[in-house]
Amino acid sequence: MKRTDVVDRLLPKVVKASASVEQFAPSNIALCKYWGKRDRELNLPINASLSVSLDYLGSHTRLIPTEGQVDDVWLNGQQLQPGARFSQKVSEFIDLFRRDQNLYFKVETRNNIPTAAGLASSASGFAALTLALNDALALDLPPEHLSIMARMGSGSACRSLFTGFVEWRMGQRKDGLDSHGVQLEQQWPGFCIGLVEIDAGEKATDSRSGMQRTVETAHLYQSWPLQAAVDLGKLQQAIAERDFELLGQTAEQNALSMHATMIASWPPLLYWQPESVAAMQKVWQLRSQGLQVYFTMDAGPNLKLLFQRADRATLLQHFPNLETVEPFGC
Ligand code: DP6
Repeated sequence: MKRTDVVDRLLPKVVKASASVEQFAPSNIALCKYWGKRDRELNLPINASLSVSLDYLGSHTRLIPTEGQVDDVWLNGQQLQPGARFSQKVSEFIDLFRRDQNLYFKVETRNNIPTAAGLASSASGFAALTLALNDALALDLPPEHLSIMARMGSGSACRSLFTGFVEWRMGQRKDGLDSHGVQLEQQWPGFCIGLVEIDAGEKATDSRSGMQRTVETAHLYQSWPLQAAVDLGKLQQAIAERDFELLGQTAEQNALSMHATMIASWPPLLYWQPESVAAMQKVWQLRSQGLQVYFTMDAGPNLKLLFQRADRATLLQHFPNLETVEPFGC
């Protein structure tokens, strides 16, 4: 199934660009990770995942209709060449919406999180672009359809359409119309995420090629879908009962299990740097001293700490540069 076949089912044939628009979407951190696709064209996952959205940290995207014959793409205040990778990805994604019509845009994206450092800026970027296109073309799509469209840009983007805890239902259908984000109703005031930046540089292997390599070469990957299904259930329970220990343990083990499958790929995929391991050991040491802190990691060297508001001040003594976010406020 082609992406255009899915678009035929969701969008009108003829669309018109109206005024300039601006939209924001948050970045999201997965507590149960998406790792591996059953359909690479549509970004359909092998397993369901669960994330928490990062409130004000994410992407602002502005769309201005232009008379030109190509999109004019800007990232963090810099104009990109039409051939640049980011620019191509953006234009190909807009192709899904403009279809065969001559509609081009100046696209300005600003991330307030480091781009391509494992902090999921592609998720917030595609989600914000989806929301902006929905407005610019007056599509009025329902949230599930926005999530499906964003997923075709980048899988994890389907979760960034929502705030708070979000489950990405993997779905069963070939066209992926049942594979989208769903916001959980539970809130968790005082739940905190801390970003430990080890390296903000561009990573060598992006998630897309990393997960493909893992699926194709790591025997260990066979156990991943089962682990993810069990972890998803535990996280749902932890969120329903506000059981922080269960949430933290499950998220940390899930992340380390995903990294085990990466390391077991060939050529091996090791996203960690010595400083990443040192930070993990610091977390384990603090935990052995009674502090309730856990970590998760994505396809990059940075750690995301999970903790509760009451422990914030203590944690800042050990991680002085920690950027902290409270997805549900106080
Ligand atoms: C490790 O969503 O970036 O962050 O669908 O190929 O664009 P594509 O991949 P992407 O993968 C994210 C992987 C992850 C885990 C997660 O966010 O669930």
